[in-house]
Amino acid sequence: MNLLITGGCGFLGSNLVHYLASAHPEYYITVYDILTYAGSRSNIRGLENRKAIAFIEGDICDPVRLAGALDIGVDMVINLAAETHVDRSIMSPVDFVRTNVYGVQVMLEQCRERSIAFLQISTDEVYGPAPEDIRFSEHEPLLPTSPYAASKASADLLILAAHRTYRQDVMILRPVNNLGPYQYPEKIIPLFCDRLSRGLPVPVYGDGCQIRTWLHVDDFSRAVELAIEGFVSGECFNVGSKWEITNIDLTKRIVKLVGQSEKLIRFVDDRPGHDRRYAVDFSRFMNRFGWLPGRDFDRAIEKTVKWYLENRKWLDTKRTKDYGEFIDRQYGKLK
Ligand SMILES: NC(=O)c1ccc[n+]([C@@H]2O[C@H](COP(=O)([O-])OP(=O)(O)OC[C@H]3O[C@@H](n4cnc5c(N)ncnc54)[C@H](O)[C@@H]3O)[C@@H](O)[C@H]2O)c1
Repeated sequence: MNLLITGGCGFLGSNLVHYLASAHPEYYITVYDILTYAGSRSNIRGLENRKAIAFIEGDICDPVRLAGALDIGVDMVINLAAETHVDRSIMSPVDFVRTNVYGVQVMLEQCRERSIAFLQISTDEVYGPAPEDIRFSEHEPLLPTSPYAASKASADLLILAAHRTYRQDVMILRPVNNLGPYQYPEKIIPLFCDRLSRGLPVPVYGDGCQIRTWLHVDDFSRAVELAIEGFVSGECFNVGSKWEITNIDLTKRIVKLVGQSEKLIRFVDDRPGHDRRYAVDFSRFMNRFGWLPGRDFDRAIEKTVKWYLENRKWLDTKRTKDYGEFIDRQYGKLK
């Protein structure tokens, strides 16, 4: 199997590359990534010197560069290249439309010309907020609320339209929030590990009672592995877990695991349009592929926090001037 993994230097992408390189040494993998602030070659360090792993720096919106990467006999593209931070999408939606919508359309066309299968990594956020006790199935309408989620939903619609119109081989996975190593520290878990371990306060939006579902990134990678092997053209699948937790409870867990005091928790103004809860029914994926998340949340969060505490140098490299300005702009000066 010859795979092109776009966004393979980001959080999910780099974990997937590590996972597949170990589970499938017979796969040939090309990582294609533009290396935004969220992507780093160091995330796949140690793998690149393997014969079966190659790296190409490139933009998914650039059809010529992409064509060069695809013309080496790729069987499947797995797209994880995206702008992914909801807060940044509120500040600058156009960047999200460019990569998450236009970039996907460019990739679809390049894949179609070469009859290459296209596996899109979407998100549970495309359905919008879920009422209490309801888990959305794949048949629910897409009602995204943030510019990020709207850009991802738009891509899903273009992908499904390509299948319907051209019979193009496409498949979509919609995972919930992932936790694990190599996540850029603007997202809640690495951000809080970084700040708490330096004795700094952490910002919790609104009342902190927003609910998210969590999945360990190795379980996500296993789901992608199954999708590669059992590709079902024209289908979408939710990839979830039963681990729902409020942001404030998650924060308290992290505070405890880092060995800090809850006095460092600061409630800040809520994110505009902040969805209260995301929840998906993932039984279709479970039944079709015999997949179940293997790691329970307690073990996953412990392991993840430990990784960030043991990889302080990795976190240190992320705290650039731009990063500092982003955090200050987002949360004000936290005291
Ligand atoms: N992280 C999660 O919990 C989560 C949950 C559900 C869905 N997703 C989806 O999974 C995918 C990966 O998310 P992530 O958290 O790993 O994101 P990330 O922000 O950590 O990484 C994104 C990667 O894409 C690359 N990239 C961005 N724009 C590009 C472009 N124009 N051309 C080529 N590469 C580009 C970046 O350099 C980076 O390496 C996204 O599509 C996201 O919507 C993530």
